[in-house]
Amino acid sequence: MLLLENVSVKYGAIEAIRGINMEIKVGSVVCLIGANGAGKSTTVNTIAGLVRNQGGKIFYCGEDISRWETYKRIEAGIAISMEGRRIFPDQTVYDNLLLGGYTRRKKMRELRRDIDQIMDKLPILKEKANQLAGTLSGGQQQILAIARALIAKPKLLLLDEPSLGLAPILIKEVYKIIKDLHSEGMTILLVEQFAQYAFSISDYVYVLEHGKIVLEGKPEDIKDDPRLTSAYLGE
Ligand SMILES: Nc1ncnc2c1ncn2[C@@H]1O[C@H](COP(=O)(O)OP(=O)(O)OP(=O)(O)O)[C@@H](O)[C@H]1O
Ligand SMILES: [Mg+2]
Repeated sequence: MLLLENVSVKYGAIEAIRGINMEIKVGSVVCLIGANGAGKSTTVNTIAGLVRNQGGKIFYCGEDISRWETYKRIEAGIAISMEGRRIFPDQTVYDNLLLGGYTRRKKMRELRRDIDQIMDKLPILKEKANQLAGTLSGGQQQILAIARALIAKPKLLLLDEPSLGLAPILIKEVYKIIKDLHSEGMTILLVEQFAQYAFSISDYVYVLEHGKIVLEGKPEDIKDDPRLTSAYLGE
C-alpha cells in the first residue's frame, strides 16, 4: 500500500530523516519505533504531506504522491492522528468529529451518519458527545483523536504516539481500539517510543535512529537484537 524509497527531509540544515526505505503491506500494522528526535513524526508527517520530502519518493497504491497536497492524500485514503492529540479543547466531542470530516463537508448527511457509526463503535464518545473535548481524560482524548482520523474513511491510518502521556490502563484501552481496527482490515502505521505495547500488535517493525532505519523485522525476530536497546523496550 505504501512504499518509501530513499526518503529524506531537512529542516534548514537539520537532516531529520536520511534516506529511509519502508514498506507497508495492505492490512498490516507496521510499527515505527525510535527515541526522542529520531525522526518518527517527520516520517509520518511526510507521508501525510504536512512536511515535504526533498529526496526520494513516496508511493501510495502504486502512485508517486510525493508532490501531492495533503488534502489530496486525505481524499485518497491517508489519515493521520498527529502527535499530542491536537483536538480542539473548546469544541464539543461531536464538533471535533465534524471537523475531522472537513474534506467531506459538502455531504453533511452522509458525514453525520458516519459519525454516528463511529460513536456506536466507541461508546465513550457517544456518551460524551456534547461535552467539551478539553474536559475528557487523556485516554478519552486519544480515542477522540483516532476517531477523528477515522471520519475521513481512511485506507491507511497513521498514528503518531497514541500512548503518549497515558497511564498503562488507558494505553490498553487505546490499544484495544487499534487492535480492533486491525482485525477489521485497516492498514496502520503505528509510531511509538516504546516497544512494550506496540510489538504485541505489529506485523513488522522499523527502528529509527538519528533519521536512519537501523533495524527492521518481525517483532519476534528482532525483539532480542542488541540494537533494540532496553530504552525501546520500555524497561
Ligand atoms: N519544524 C521543525 N523545524 C526544525 N527542526 C525540526 C522540526 N521538526 C522536527 N525537527 C527536528 O528534526 C528531528 C526529528 O524530529 P521528529 O519530531 O521527527 O522526531 P520524533 O522521533 O518524532 O521525536 P519525538 O519522539 O520527540 O516525538 C529533531 O532533531 C527535531 O529537532
Ligand atoms: Mg514525534
